[in-house]
Amino acid sequence: MKKPNSPQEQAAPKRCHVLDLDDFSEGEIQSVLSDASAMSEILDRDIKKAPTLRGKSIATMFMEPSTRTRSSFEQAAKMLSADVISIGVSGSSSEKGESTYNTALTLQAMGIDLIVVRHPLSGTPNFLAKYLNASIINAGDGSHAHPTQALLDLYTINSKFGRIRDLRVVIVGDILYSRVARSNLWGLTKMGAQVVLCGPRTLIPDDFVANQHCLDNHPFKTVTVEHSIDRAIEGADVVMALRLQLERQSAGHLPSLKEYSQMYCVTSERLLVANPDALVMHPGPLNEGVEIDPEVAHGTKSVIEDQVTNGLAIRMALLYRLIAPTESGVSVSF
Ligand code: CP
Repeated sequence: MKKPNSPQEQAAPKRCHVLDLDDFSEGEIQSVLSDASAMSEILDRDIKKAPTLRGKSIATMFMEPSTRTRSSFEQAAKMLSADVISIGVSGSSSEKGESTYNTALTLQAMGIDLIVVRHPLSGTPNFLAKYLNASIINAGDGSHAHPTQALLDLYTINSKFGRIRDLRVVIVGDILYSRVARSNLWGLTKMGAQVVLCGPRTLIPDDFVANQHCLDNHPFKTVTVEHSIDRAIEGADVVMALRLQLERQSAGHLPSLKEYSQMYCVTSERLLVANPDALVMHPGPLNEGVEIDPEVAHGTKSVIEDQVTNGLAIRMALLYRLIAPTESGVSVSF
């Protein structure tokens, strides 16, 4: 396997945490995508294992439900031969009232090198990164950020089109509460995509984009908002449907799920005006029949399963980037 990291990237300061994509440059995102491409070779092996992180310990601390992010990080860590500890709300001392900080401190005291955190409260991974020595990866915090999802989305788009720049990427649905949309806004705009946000006014307030920035040259200046899904999808290269975050919405955003689905569900009929090679994406989990028609979710344009597979490569690349013993003189083999 080709060793990840370009010489330029190896000369750059080593990253300790992944909290969002706002502090990633276009070059660093590109470097993560090429590292992930190198890591994806492991997925094609009969024995899907490399000794890269042997002796390193990783904890997943998921204080909110997850299927793909949690299992993807755990599988990625095991494929790189790291030891993995898995903590959730159920069965841990957080059920007895222990704070997230004390749970993380306890893991750190056991010599854990990196903690992958999912938490319902926005900012929790940033707080832990500030006060702990272990590396922190944000696996989704409240409505704030989900940077590894955005990176695997960028990787998927880049793998299919060979570029991201100038593609029309339409993100449809619950933008207001979506951490996936926020991290993708950073990633896609830094990589030069034309991003269109689409949804009802209650889930994309008119000042949503304006409130995300205050500088004239901010990357979000290029983002547009379109409340009609038919106008938004016209000429789209990528249509990314988002799950309604009903667990985060207070009452009153939608008249009914039926009405929302009639206006914003991504259907085959609506996709007729997209680019003929358009991709359909969804971070999962899916509410089929609400934001995406089952025929589309499992149809020829869908790359939803590729997103999951690519998530493994991206997470291996990030674990490698943060804690591989490259600077200690320990030789690393792949
Ligand atoms: N996309 C995503 O975060 O899915 P999970 O909630 O299953 O991890």
